[in-house]
Amino acid sequence: MSTADAIRALTAGNLIHLPTETVYGLGARADDPAAVIKVFEAKGRPRFNPLIVHVGTLEQAEAIGAFDDRARVLAKAFWPGPLTLVVPAKDTNAACDLARAGLDSVALRMPAHPQALEVLKGVAFGVVAPSANRSGRPSPTTAADAADETGAFVDVTLDGGACPVGVESTVVSLLGDARYLRAGAVTRAQVEAVIGPLAADEAEGHRSPGRLSLHYAPDAPVRINVENPSPGSAYLAFGPVTYDGPVVQLSGARDVNEAAARLFSALRAADKLYPPVIEVAPIPQDGIGEAINDRLKRAAGFVG
Ligand code: TXA
Ligand code: MG
Repeated sequence: MSTADAIRALTAGNLIHLPTETVYGLGARADDPAAVIKVFEAKGRPRFNPLIVHVGTLEQAEAIGAFDDRARVLAKAFWPGPLTLVVPAKDTNAACDLARAGLDSVALRMPAHPQALEVLKGVAFGVVAPSANRSGRPSPTTAADAADETGAFVDVTLDGGACPVGVESTVVSLLGDARYLRAGAVTRAQVEAVIGPLAADEAEGHRSPGRLSLHYAPDAPVRINVENPSPGSAYLAFGPVTYDGPVVQLSGARDVNEAAARLFSALRAADKLYPPVIEVAPIPQDGIGEAINDRLKRAAGFVG
C-alpha cells in the first residue's frame, strides 16, 4: 500500500495505519466526527481521552491551535519530531469535539517520518492518530504489530519500517504554566533549555486525561527493576545477563535509546512465550530512560 492509498482512505473518512518515528498511529481525518468515532471504537478507547492531531506544516498547526511564543519556539526547535504541544483550540471544526474529547484545548504534533509527512502534506486536514494498539496494550512499533492490534479496522496499513524512537511523543501543555505531561524522547531538560523552567508536576488532574493506571500492558503480569530474575520468568535484560531462562535483550550495550526502540516489541516477544511473569531489568533515568520507566511502571500497573 502506498501513501496515495493512505491519502485516499483518509479522505474517504476511513482509518489507516500511519508509521511515525515514535510508534504506529491509527489515523483518521480530524475534521470528521464520523471518521474519528471509528478510532475510538477500533481501540476500545474511552471517549474522555482526547487524540493528538497530526499536521504536515506549522501553518496548519497554527490554524488549528492558538500558538503563543513558547509554542512557536518549541515547534521550531523540535518539529518535525517527537513532541506534542497542547494549546488552546482555535478551529474547533478542524479538530472536531470528539477528537478533543470536548476540551477547549488541542494536542498537535508534526511527526518526523518521511511517509507520515508525505501523507500529512498530501491532505487538506489534520489527522488524529493515537497509537494503533487496542486501548491499554503496548503500542505497535512495526506494521505487523499494528496489523495484529487493529488491522481489522483499517483500509490501509502503510509499512514504514520499525519505528526508530519506540516510545510515544513527549506531551507538553502550554495552557498557563508549561507542564511536562508525558515523558518521551524530547526530555524535560531539552524543553527547559528552550522555554525555561517547567511547572512542577503534582496533581494527576493536570496531567493528560489519557494517563490511565494500567497501560502499555502485555497479557503477562510485569515486574520492574528486577536484578535477578525468578525461575520461569521471561526477562527483559539491559546489558549482560547470566539468567538461563528466556531473555529478551533491550540493549546489550546498555544504550537507553536502543532500549526505547525495542521496548514494546520486547514486551510482545516476551508475551508470546506465555510466561507466568515478565521481569524487567532496572533502566537508568537518563534521557529517554524517563519515558521507558514511565511506560514500564504503567505496564506493571503501578501508576494511579
Ligand atoms: O507518539 C505519539 O504521540 C503517537 C504517534 C502515533 O504520534 N500517538 C499517541 O497518541 O501516543 P495517544 O492518543 O496514544 O496519546 C495521546 C496523549 C494522551 O495521553 C492524551 O490524553 C494526551 O495525548 N492529550 C491529547 N489531547 C490532550 C489535551 N487537549 N490535553 C491534555 N492531554 C491531551
Ligand atoms: Mg497510546
